[in-house]
Amino acid sequence: MLSERILQIQPSATLEITARAQAMRAAGLDVCSFAAGEPDFDTPAFIREAVKTALDQGKTRYGPAAGEPVLRKAIAQKLHQDNGLTYEPEQVFVTNGCKQALYNLVQVMIQPGDEVLIPAPYWVSYPEMVRLAGGVPVLVTTSRETDYKITPTQLAQAVTPRTRLLMLNSPNNPTGVVYCREELLALAQEILRHDLWVIADEIYEKLVYDGMEHISIAALGREIYDRTLVCNGFAKAYAMTGWRVGYGAGPQAIITAAANLQGHSTSNVCTFAQHGALAALQGPQEELHRMRQVFSERRRVMVDWLQTMPGLGLVPPAGAFYIWVDMRATGLTSTQFCQQVLEQYQVALVPGRAFGDDQHVRLSYATDLATIEKGMARLAAYVGNLAPLSVGEGKR
Ligand SMILES: Cc1ncc(COP(=O)(O)O)c(C=O)c1O
Repeated sequence: MLSERILQIQPSATLEITARAQAMRAAGLDVCSFAAGEPDFDTPAFIREAVKTALDQGKTRYGPAAGEPVLRKAIAQKLHQDNGLTYEPEQVFVTNGCKQALYNLVQVMIQPGDEVLIPAPYWVSYPEMVRLAGGVPVLVTTSRETDYKITPTQLAQAVTPRTRLLMLNSPNNPTGVVYCREELLALAQEILRHDLWVIADEIYEKLVYDGMEHISIAALGREIYDRTLVCNGFAKAYAMTGWRVGYGAGPQAIITAAANLQGHSTSNVCTFAQHGALAALQGPQEELHRMRQVFSERRRVMVDWLQTMPGLGLVPPAGAFYIWVDMRATGLTSTQFCQQVLEQYQVALVPGRAFGDDQHVRLSYATDLATIEKGMARLAAYVGNLAPLSVGEGKR
């Protein structure tokens, strides 16, 4: 009854822990959760107001599958201003979150059997998107020793005659790392040398800290621009996760194909939500800066705590709102670690297994400082009790 295609994909490895944390909460336990994958802020008021106005103005009907023309134009302007990328509005398509842009692009770019390079750890959906398109995910494993970044040599070594595409995510979920210009240039050279394409997932672009700058790989030269599909969205920067508005931009033939696919599957993104997204781009950006500052402070507090814990290691993250913690010195799997800390200390973390690495756990600081202080004290107590097992160092 079920198709082979769908049988190949895995259910989310994070569901079990999240469900257990919710059950514990429902039972009245005080759970500190560092599992969130979304900002804990409300969507800024001026964006919500813009949607109310759009509703009153009757922006409630079907629209073009590729998006409201006014929004495609505004996104093209944004990509020019913020990222130094020049696209015609027709080279932009509006999607149900960044996720649908990624999904559609993989669908239209991959032939059965094509290999897609995915740096690991990876965002959970990449390998499944590739499998659903009939492609073969090829993991390129990063480690703490290389700051969780792939190197050009690794990239070159992973290439075969079937390799077509690289999925590149910077700032990164789950590691929080941000590739700098030189690193991207070196990767771009390899991509061009091997005649590959890149899907650049830039959904966390606005969440970078310590003066770090987000660079789009597509901005590094005409040749790499021609080989890159940029994906982004409103979810993380503007606290709009539930709105489901994202976009993709790139070479016209590919964008047209991806928009066609959308025309036969989901059609246009909710029309009035698109008007909210338009307001987000055109309105004041102060809220965005304020949210970033709050995230930055929480990140500092969490990193400080983690660096005192024996047996845990980390690369201080420069972007997104996650910390990727190396717990291999504990001798536990990521699932065991997460289960124990949840059952014994009521702290919810996400096991690295979900991201293709069973020796790390992901902590999100998209939660308030009081929860961070309380949860970190509990985690320190848990790790302190494990300490005799630990063989690794805590600091880096
Ligand atoms: C790396 C990455 N890409 C894409 C997405 C999906 O974003 P959206 O909610 O806009 O579909 C997420 C969401 O968690 C993400 O972490």
